[in-house]
Amino acid sequence: MTSADIARAAAALKQGWLVAFPTETVYGLGADAENPEAVARIYRAKGRPADHPLIVHISTAQLLDQWANEVPDYARTLARDFWPGPMTLILSRSSRAGDFVTGGQDTVGLRVPSNEIARELLAEFVRLGGFGVAAPSANRFGKVSPTTAAAVREELNDYLDSSDIVLEGEQSEVGIESTIIDCTAEAPRILRPGAITQEMIERSTGLRVKDADTSIRVSGSLDSHYAPRAKVVLNEQPLPGDGLIALSSVATEEGVVRLAAPETSADYARQLYAALRKADELGLARVVAITPEGDDIALAIVDRLKRASF
Ligand code: TXA
Ligand code: MG
Repeated sequence: MTSADIARAAAALKQGWLVAFPTETVYGLGADAENPEAVARIYRAKGRPADHPLIVHISTAQLLDQWANEVPDYARTLARDFWPGPMTLILSRSSRAGDFVTGGQDTVGLRVPSNEIARELLAEFVRLGGFGVAAPSANRFGKVSPTTAAAVREELNDYLDSSDIVLEGEQSEVGIESTIIDCTAEAPRILRPGAITQEMIERSTGLRVKDADTSIRVSGSLDSHYAPRAKVVLNEQPLPGDGLIALSSVATEEGVVRLAAPETSADYARQLYAALRKADELGLARVVAITPEGDDIALAIVDRLKRASF
């Protein structure tokens, strides 16, 4: 990956093509967030319903006010403390955020990713006159998010044009999607748990985080999501032929296919989606996941595993 590759990808975005790119959470499938035809192609490539809003990725928090209105102080504090990083803020939208990117809602999701390739791509896109890149996770709708470029190609090759680009990067460090925080009320609410935890948000803002309002549409909250073909069950005794995802402290019994043996919850998050993909590559019928404990990223892992198990 050279800076010429990144410059070419930024130019492709500006011309209305799609660019899949690494982020620290999962790989995204990007388009110019101000180009309705390009954004429409994201929905087609993913097979995603058009009323599901996309996150707009920006190169720096300084672009926040280009996309959002009435930004509360606590949202600026969160942006200062956790951007660039695995956090998406939902804010009242400005006129720049069209219905085609917000799914017709009067809010917009914004994130400054920390992955180096993503940052360079976004910075170059801004130099070319762009303001933001709309990007959902680069998987088909309802499937497991990709954490490697190879997984992106596997998911989307048949749905991309020859002028679209898949940028090659490292395996995503965090491994699960960003924490989504609704910042449209007096206090923040977590809509999707992730690496930025409730405790971190409360410590940063000095505010109590309220419970999620389920009336807000988050496609990640649909019942079946993040799901491989294999059936996923949680905290059951694995049988011979089953795949097993569990912390390394859990032993692998005879005949069970160990898919991941992470040391920590952070490792578990990093390895989870690759392990679910491996289950499908191996043609396993069933995966047993033993969930990690704790109120850190373990909560986000349990959230994704529950959705994968529906
Ligand atoms: O980590 C991530 O967030 C990754 C990387 C690529 O940045 N992106 C990602 O995008 O997970 P996606 O589209 O797969 O999930 C974004 C979620 C969706 O569930 C969507 O409904 C929600 O964010 N969302 C986006 N804009 C929203 C809005 N204005 N109000 C409520 N939810 C919103
Ligand atoms: Mg997704």
